Amino acid sequence: MFGLEGRTALITGASRGIGRAIALGCAEAGADVALLARGTDAVREVAETVEKLGRRAVVLTCDVGDPDQVRAAVSDTVAQFGGLDVLVNNAGGFGFAGPFLELTAQDWTDAIRLNLASVVHFCREAGRVMVRQRSGSLINVGSVSGVGGVPMLSHYAATKAAVASLTRSLAAEWAASGVRVNCVVPGWIRTELTSVMSGQEQISDGLLRSVPARRWGDPEDVVGAVLYLAGDGARMTTGSCLTLDGGMTSTIGGPTLIDLMEMGRIPV
Ligand SMILES: NC(=O)c1ccc[n+]([C@@H]2O[C@H](COP(=O)([O-])OP(=O)(O)OC[C@H]3O[C@@H](n4cnc5c(N)ncnc54)[C@H](OP(=O)(O)O)[C@@H]3O)[C@@H](O)[C@H]2O)c1
Repeated sequence: MFGLEGRTALITGASRGIGRAIALGCAEAGADVALLARGTDAVREVAETVEKLGRRAVVLTCDVGDPDQVRAAVSDTVAQFGGLDVLVNNAGGFGFAGPFLELTAQDWTDAIRLNLASVVHFCREAGRVMVRQRSGSLINVGSVSGVGGVPMLSHYAATKAAVASLTRSLAAEWAASGVRVNCVVPGWIRTELTSVMSGQEQISDGLLRSVPARRWGDPEDVVGAVLYLAGDGARMTTGSCLTLDGGMTSTIGGPTLIDLMEMGRIPV
């Protein structure tokens, strides 16, 4: 149900953070993996670790916002592995963080290119291969930012909401072809992307006030959900968004209710 023996997986943004953890998790579960990022040094280190686990690793240099590079990356993977079973659209992030009124047209274009256009390009190229194979699992990395509104990250939040929408549409379009499309939805995960926030005690404490689990997630906290969605255990699951946020989106009361609960004002 949960192994990936004999499968092949392509993971974007595999050089660090969540993508690196997912790549190693897929290899540990038995998959050969194609590891993709713009820089090659860090991704080669991940490839060496994959090979030590006894799996094949292919290193791909690609800017996920460039449709021609995406087409070449998928075609290289298929040429090397003879097919593609799992694609994890993980590369993403936010360049700008700040008030909406300071967002430039270029900031918006960059956010769309990195977080949404990239997913569209990869779903199209990998989808073609998987529909032809009549099997495959596409997993998009969304964010809780796409579930609720996020001041100072409105552009990023909008792209992640669109990724969840694309996931549902493609899931319906390809379900009868044996291709599943799902989304993992992490909350606050401690990575380079969030180091400005996790590294400053006051900001970190403020953010964790809205997380009932009261801790930052680690990249490894995302891996189990990806393995589930990738494998046969999820063979009837398509169009789902699986949330990994320590309970953040489980309450509309947010920090106030959690604080009251911890003060003993609300019996638990
Ligand atoms: N950390 C969180 O709290 C959190 C929460 C929810 C969702 N997410 C999502 O999880 C995903 C991974 O986040 P992370 O925190 O692990 O980020 P990260 O530590 O900044 O890692 C980003 C990865 O993406 C690659 N990348 C960035 N731009 C790229 C491009 N144009 N083309 C190809 N590769 C590119 C980076 O490698 P190169 O720089 O070498 O290209 C790196 O491997 C993102 O989609 C993010 O939105 C993160």
